[in-house]
Amino acid sequence: MHIVFAASECVPFAKTGGLADVVGALPLELAKLGHEVTVYLPLYAVVRPHLTGQWKYAARSITIPFEYYNRFVGIVDGGKRNGVRYYFVDCPDLFDRQGLYGSGGGEYPNNWERFGLFCRAVLEATKLLGVPAVFHVHDWQASLIPVYLRTIYASDPLLGNVGTVLTIHNAGYQGWFPPQTTERLLFPWDLFTMDKVEHFDTFNFLKGGIVFSDMLTTVSRRYAEEIQTAEFGEKLDGVLRGRAANLHGILNGVDYTQWDPATDGYLAAHYTANVLTGKQECRTDLLHAFGLESIAPSTPVLGIVSRFAAQKGFDILAGITDELMRRDVAVIALGSGEPFYENFFREWAARYPGRVALQVRYDEALSHKVEAGSDIFLMPSRYEPGGLNQLYSLRYGTVPVVRATGGLDDTIDEWNAEQRTGTGFKFHGYAPQDFLAAIDRALAIFPNKQSWQRLMRNGMVKNYSWTQPARQYVEVYTEAVKRRG
Ligand code: ADP
Ligand code: GLC
Repeated sequence: MHIVFAASECVPFAKTGGLADVVGALPLELAKLGHEVTVYLPLYAVVRPHLTGQWKYAARSITIPFEYYNRFVGIVDGGKRNGVRYYFVDCPDLFDRQGLYGSGGGEYPNNWERFGLFCRAVLEATKLLGVPAVFHVHDWQASLIPVYLRTIYASDPLLGNVGTVLTIHNAGYQGWFPPQTTERLLFPWDLFTMDKVEHFDTFNFLKGGIVFSDMLTTVSRRYAEEIQTAEFGEKLDGVLRGRAANLHGILNGVDYTQWDPATDGYLAAHYTANVLTGKQECRTDLLHAFGLESIAPSTPVLGIVSRFAAQKGFDILAGITDELMRRDVAVIALGSGEPFYENFFREWAARYPGRVALQVRYDEALSHKVEAGSDIFLMPSRYEPGGLNQLYSLRYGTVPVVRATGGLDDTIDEWNAEQRTGTGFKFHGYAPQDFLAAIDRALAIFPNKQSWQRLMRNGMVKNYSWTQPARQYVEVYTEAVKRRG
């Protein structure tokens, strides 16, 4: 089967979060299963260093019409890597900038145009470069592909019958724009109704994708249920309930060629579930990288790697900072994002120098070092569709303390001291004291080396590879194709 992926992020080209990891890894696994996979991405400034030598254009000057002007895009051929073909939508006016979605000051105001153009350019490009059996589109940025297909392109002889699958990685980001977006993107006004893209008087990209895709998936079973409730649905729960029969939760996998302490090139030493000794060296290396050399070997290191966003639950961490520091712990955080949370971490680190350390930036190498060198990993998310860091933590023997939501609930089991089962510690209420109680349960086991190593190993031997999820996606693609056939 030929599957075209359209997404706004993909490892190794452009990444702000887990979406990039998924769009980087799933196509490779599908290619291994014998499928033809093509990935389309915008040609951002950060993509340029990956395109060495002279650019090879697969297509030039594709016309994308807007309300009273046209734009012309090129499709740069990124070549085949590990059996997967990459194409980049080149429109320097829109994509050749520093951020993917915005700059320090916020989102780019013309994101409707950037991602509207991206979606239409992908459709036009496939007519020249290969029409797939199914489009697999990701998040709001690619959500207009199914909308275009079932409206403006409905009678296109090449594209009219292509199936569509939308994966919702995060319902919290929907792409809300003014009603006029409808005509700016040349859609008919009858699209701007409650049962289509209209949402509280905005033009909502993600809602359009949900309404018009043949099949929907999200990145854990639990989140597939949660988004159908008012608490987690981000006001799309009604629409999602309406499509419940076609909505599947497929858990994210891990690319163990990138994330395994036995081979990870970013680490000071390697280790496995059988031979753990290298982890100590990774811890020393990490403490050095964060200037916490004086932390005693008996003191557990609590690690965080995260986008700093409300989703990630740092409000409840803010409620326990002083109380937590009465315990014998060190805290290491790597992240960036909303200034409010950056400042929270900065203030916390300033109050506890030598015990709490922070680096505010995006740093691939350091993220691997934090996974390997910490003893405990904290993910108190308010909501978490899938979550990859808890899966990385498991493999790195870094015991996760997580809130029981979305993919965190699906993948982490509470430690059971009698049966010696479980992989971490989990709390339910979104409350500082519940979080602290879960950390305390972890801290109570930590000094008992035998139990702790058992707990580490329980996680390290878990297998969250992409093999199984890739097969589940193929079933969903097959169903989408059938619907069109
Ligand atoms: P989300 O996609 O919501 O951010 P995930 O847990 O699915 O959450 O994925 C986050 C991904 O982004 C992981 O690969 C993580 O290592 C990476 N990441 C997040 N923040 C940083 C950072 N500051 N530096 C490096 N990697 C980061
Ligand atoms: C989103 C979610 C995260 C998920 C990732 C990849 O960014 O916040 O939970 O793991 O997408 O699916």
